[in-house]
Amino acid sequence: MSQFNRTTVTAALPYANGPIHIGHLAGCYLPSDIYVRFLRLRGEDVAFICGSDEHGMAITMRARKEGVSPKDIVDRYHVMMRDALKDFGVDFDVYSRTSGDKHKEVASSFFKELYDKGVFDTRETDQYYDPEAKQFLADRYIKGTCPRCSYPEAYGDQCESCGATLNPTDLINPASTLSGATLERRKTTNWFLPLDKLAPDLRAYIESHPEWKANVYGQCKSWLDSGDGLQPRSMTRDLDWGVPVPVEGAEGKVLYVWFDAPLGYITATQELFGKDWEKWWKADDTRLIHFIGKDNIVFHCIIFPAILMQHGEYILADQVPANEFLNLEGDKLSTSRDWAVWLHEYLEDFPGKADVLRYALCATMPENKDNDFTWADFQQRNNSELVAIYGNLVNRIMVLNHKFCDGKVPVIGQEPADIEALKNIVKQADAIEKYLEQFKFRDALAEAMNLARAGNKYLADQAPWKVMKTDLARAQAILGVATQIAAALTVLMDPFMPQVSDKLRVMLGMTAALQWSDLCSEGHLIKVGTQLGQAALLFDKIEDEAMDIQRAKLVKP
Ligand code: MF3
Ligand code: ZN
Repeated sequence: MSQFNRTTVTAALPYANGPIHIGHLAGCYLPSDIYVRFLRLRGEDVAFICGSDEHGMAITMRARKEGVSPKDIVDRYHVMMRDALKDFGVDFDVYSRTSGDKHKEVASSFFKELYDKGVFDTRETDQYYDPEAKQFLADRYIKGTCPRCSYPEAYGDQCESCGATLNPTDLINPASTLSGATLERRKTTNWFLPLDKLAPDLRAYIESHPEWKANVYGQCKSWLDSGDGLQPRSMTRDLDWGVPVPVEGAEGKVLYVWFDAPLGYITATQELFGKDWEKWWKADDTRLIHFIGKDNIVFHCIIFPAILMQHGEYILADQVPANEFLNLEGDKLSTSRDWAVWLHEYLEDFPGKADVLRYALCATMPENKDNDFTWADFQQRNNSELVAIYGNLVNRIMVLNHKFCDGKVPVIGQEPADIEALKNIVKQADAIEKYLEQFKFRDALAEAMNLARAGNKYLADQAPWKVMKTDLARAQAILGVATQIAAALTVLMDPFMPQVSDKLRVMLGMTAALQWSDLCSEGHLIKVGTQLGQAALLFDKIEDEAMDIQRAKLVKP
């Protein structure tokens, strides 16, 4: 048996600088929600933690662009993201925010504890200051001429023309991307986490997890091996938006957003459990899992663990199932170019169809490599899979039961083909379980769909609509088997499409939801004689026009 008694699942805190789009969903919110729903169906103790990441340049830049305050920005997008994720069926136990007072206290005292332990190196460095915007600038907000290839638009951290890795001080004629002003060099003091000294511990930690997904493990290893990555990293910034650095002489400085944000998981857990929060972060029998997108790997596998290790009392992540990126119609998703499918717009345009998007995104999830979302694929999955396979199976079962069985769950057939079909439920449940345990969401979903396919095949082979003409009892027994398959699907499809499962449960007259362990009973999932509800379609066809409207929304720049 597992050494764990509970699981803390975190989903990366999205920046509150814009609405949620399908890239966020496929990257971490959908897989984390599927996984949590699965654990809950197995009766496990889970805390599902998220919230808005409301600090850092991502926010201040957006505020500057819109000419409003950072607070206006985060207040707007926090609510928008929270509500859209909820309507999409992402079932967080808590959705917090990092600009809240509680979080300021948590992040601040965490920093202070490390500071008092002498963890940080205090360093004075030269940084570029924008005299017009009156702030120090992060590397990528500085542009200048590349010293290597003379490209005039190189960023402070990288030249996109020749690929050189740069420091802002390498640039010729550096200028601010915020104001265009010529930059001044100013001395400033910051507090650095000595990742170089922690390298051996970090290496031991990473190497103790060869079971991590190859993309995650590989990135961590190359980060460790390059040496470059494990330079001391400043945990404070010269900015005025963030958690103030709780140290004397640090006026006008805030915590680095990647110091404060992951601690937001802990704040949220405290808000959820009150005094009882600690076991979710400190007990050895708690399993910690971070769901993230690939751009977050080093922060969750190296920097955050380093911070937690320095504190000493915390458990470290046991799994970090990061996904790659999702593209849209062959092009990179981009907020600034408005090349995205926005969740709140989808939910408005396709009322009641959150699960169709969940299905399509899970089926194309970028688990091991980047993947592409297209409206053609979405339509095809809806029409030829959800409608034609799952919906069709359920509809046939419901209609035939009402026609030949008085609308009551029939007795279960005992012929070899029946027993085979019932055994197949268990087989598919085991396959789905195995895949979900390994974070193979696409395979798991495909196996769930295969059960619906097998159900259709069973019905087609047994043809109860023909058999009833000569042997009504046998026709009913066939429908009895098929109805058990439908009942199994209420559980097996539930992590992927929870709203559809609810609808199907109502149709089947199931008063209590089944648990995963019920599936081992080879049928007998729904009691013979149960009064069925009304037949209704689980899915309906999506027409070309609806897809044309969506494609027209994507305006190429
Ligand atoms: N806001 C970050 C992003 O969107 C993720 C932060 S995850 C956390 O990339 F751990 F820092 F919270
Ligand atoms: Zn260059």
